[in-house]
Amino acid sequence: MLDPKTNTIAAADAPPCVAYAADGPVATLSLSNPARLNAMTAAMWAAIPGQVAKAEADPDIRVIVVRGAGERAFCAGADISEFASSRSGSAAAHYNDLNHAAFAALEGASKPTVAMIHGPCLGGGLAIAACCDLRWADTAAQFSIPAAKLGIGYDPRWIKPLLRILAPPQVKELLFTARRISAADAAAFGLVNRLAAPDALGAEVAALVAEIAANAPLTVRAAKVSIDTLARQPETADLAALDAYIAACFASDDYAEGCRAFMDKRKPAFTGR
Ligand code: COA
Repeated sequence: MLDPKTNTIAAADAPPCVAYAADGPVATLSLSNPARLNAMTAAMWAAIPGQVAKAEADPDIRVIVVRGAGERAFCAGADISEFASSRSGSAAAHYNDLNHAAFAALEGASKPTVAMIHGPCLGGGLAIAACCDLRWADTAAQFSIPAAKLGIGYDPRWIKPLLRILAPPQVKELLFTARRISAADAAAFGLVNRLAAPDALGAEVAALVAEIAANAPLTVRAAKVSIDTLARQPETADLAALDAYIAACFASDDYAEGCRAFMDKRKPAFTGR
């Protein structure tokens, strides 16, 4: 059971999991493997699509936060201790499928996703963060893709999200050197949107998601789908299909409410309809 105050799993020997907590319009997915800096086990990878689907299906949820449980780490990558059993021989393809499904679920979420990053954000953890829309990190966070130190072949499907955030020379630097870079360097790369002091990160992310959640959900959805589609297919995007999302905004009660609230000099109360 996740303790919402400390964001830790109550029992120290609780099995690794991806915990789900809903608080008003915000769903938080906590990567939890406390003994191993929240490294992802196969079961944790397998849990992500269901937890994302839960947030997607709840009409009260407007923003999804992904974080590491506890205060030590976002995620130290895949759990290397189970590679011999779960990521070798005939099991390797299944493991890769679990990875793909987890990344696809995060990338495919229609609601905005925010990675809240403290401590190590490595390998698969960095890939998870890269699949989120926004990345807020503390100044002590560290980033790397250590595949080349482990002899892991880094799947091109996981490079795609990185290339939507970073330029090819930066992705090459990360993959060729497998070096750990500081939060300041990650911010200079554009890998993270913002940095916060370690003791301020939680409050800054809470303010960020409250700000997004208070805005008109249909406008946010239209922006997200347009930006993602145009980033993936800059020349061939079906603009007419995207126009439907814009039309839904103008046809919505929220559009009328937003204009009325402006004229009344009050905050709008949006319903997503
Ligand atoms: N898989 C399995 N166990 C991991 C792990 C991972 N990816 N990352 C950390 N751990 C474990 C450590 O083995 C250690 O376990 P122990 O207490 O039983 O010895 C525990 O988590 C704490 O890690 P430790 O290395 O003692 O912490 P640190 O602060 O000295 O170093 C890191 C932190 C992240 C730099 C270091 O743990 C590390 O390099 N981890 C591996 C990262 C990696 O290669 N990830 C990619 C996997 S594909």
